Amino acid sequence: GAPQLAAAIEELGAEAVFAACDIADRDALAAVVRQVEADGPPVTAVVHAAAHIELGMLADTTAGALSEICRAKVLGAENLDAVFAERDLDAFVLFSSIAGFWGSGDHGAYAAANAHLDTLAERRRARGLRASSVAWGIWDAANDWDERNTEMRALKNEKSSRHGLPLLDAEQAFTALRRIIDHDETVVAVADVDWDRFVALFTMARESVLLTEVPEAARALESPEEPAAGPDGADGLARRLDGLSRPEQAHLLLELVRAQAAAVLGHGPQAEAVDPGRAFREMGFDSLTAVELRNRLASATGLKLPATLVFDHPSPLELAARLRALLLPDDDSAHPLALLRLGDFEAALAASPPDPATRQQLARRLQGLLWSWSEEGGPADGAAAGQGDATAPVDVASASADELFDLIDRGLDPS
Ligand SMILES: NC(=O)c1ccc[n+]([C@@H]2O[C@H](COP(=O)([O-])OP(=O)(O)OC[C@H]3O[C@@H](n4cnc5c(N)ncnc54)[C@H](OP(=O)(O)O)[C@@H]3O)[C@@H](O)[C@H]2O)c1
Repeated sequence: GAPQLAAAIEELGAEAVFAACDIADRDALAAVVRQVEADGPPVTAVVHAAAHIELGMLADTTAGALSEICRAKVLGAENLDAVFAERDLDAFVLFSSIAGFWGSGDHGAYAAANAHLDTLAERRRARGLRASSVAWGIWDAANDWDERNTEMRALKNEKSSRHGLPLLDAEQAFTALRRIIDHDETVVAVADVDWDRFVALFTMARESVLLTEVPEAARALESPEEPAAGPDGADGLARRLDGLSRPEQAHLLLELVRAQAAAVLGHGPQAEAVDPGRAFREMGFDSLTAVELRNRLASATGLKLPATLVFDHPSPLELAARLRALLLPDDDSAHPLALLRLGDFEAALAASPPDPATRQQLARRLQGLLWSWSEEGGPADGAAAGQGDATAPVDVASASADELFDLIDRGLDPS
């Protein structure tokens, strides 16, 4: 796009000159500056926009990648500062990023490199020179020479809007840049932010002191956006739960969680696509989709639910149990964890009834469990299992007649 860009600049009445240079090489940079100034008027403004953009978690970043990411950003900016160390330019602008300004999960080294630019601007300013570091949000980079551009921009905008950061309109970005230079600001973040959405995601793991100082963010923190009621609404769910038995209620809530999780993951309303016992994280849930699921469930149940819901109750079974505890506080959920788990087990059985062979296996395991548990001083009233001195769980299906009689004796004779 360079020739098109040059033509556009010249149409505005300025001359454009391109000079390739690795700005991490200070001597080469100084030579280019000398050359440019020998051929034309002295440099009066510098904009550093070079970057090697490679995203990833800091823990996964190798020393080589860290060095590469810092080269153009950190070394390049330091070199520009050094080459123009003695000159107070009209503008010395560093293109930084919100990744360094307030942080972003998978922007480890890139965030650090950008944060360096913000401090470089402060240092240059402290030397009495002009310097502005602008921590940009994500630019909506329109151009006329790339046909795929419009489609890519729409996709990018959709993705970033879901994070509460719609693409930054280029016109507005340039207006902001002009103001920053006119007002001689040092470090400023410029982003288009949907605060309700962004704050919910950003404060999911921990509170943010920085955001409490932004009035719009503070307002969003005080009164989080209430998710709109679903088509059926919370009343509809309450009515449906009303006439059901406890296992049926547990089943209904589990199906609700699975269906909403499936929808968030893009499977449509196919509850079967979501394994009740599988961890949400393993299914691919991240902070964004966790908030979406929270919103859907809040809207379906009428409950006020925290953004961390999916991480506090990490599988559909556990999350459904939590909803049951909140919606039906008088049921089993008020009892100890073991009963809660038993409720989950019932719900899982109701959700996908086992085949006959599995049924038989389950029956044996349960019977064995009952026996071994009663040995350890299990049920206080000794109702079904009895309190005999059995030595091992008995395999009912394969036990001999004598073993079965022994089993019955032990079950019926408390001595
Ligand atoms: N785009 C955004 O939404 C956004 C948001 C926040 C901040 N920013 C910052 O704004 C700046 C521009 O972003 P962009 O999206 O235009 O980035 P980009 O498309 O990746 O462009 C980066 C440019 O830096 C050049 N470069 C890399 N290493 C260099 C080196 N050692 N010496 C000289 N030039 C070098 C690259 O040249 P080659 O192509 O020849 O390698 C490339 O032209 C970057 O600093 C970026 O971090 C951008």
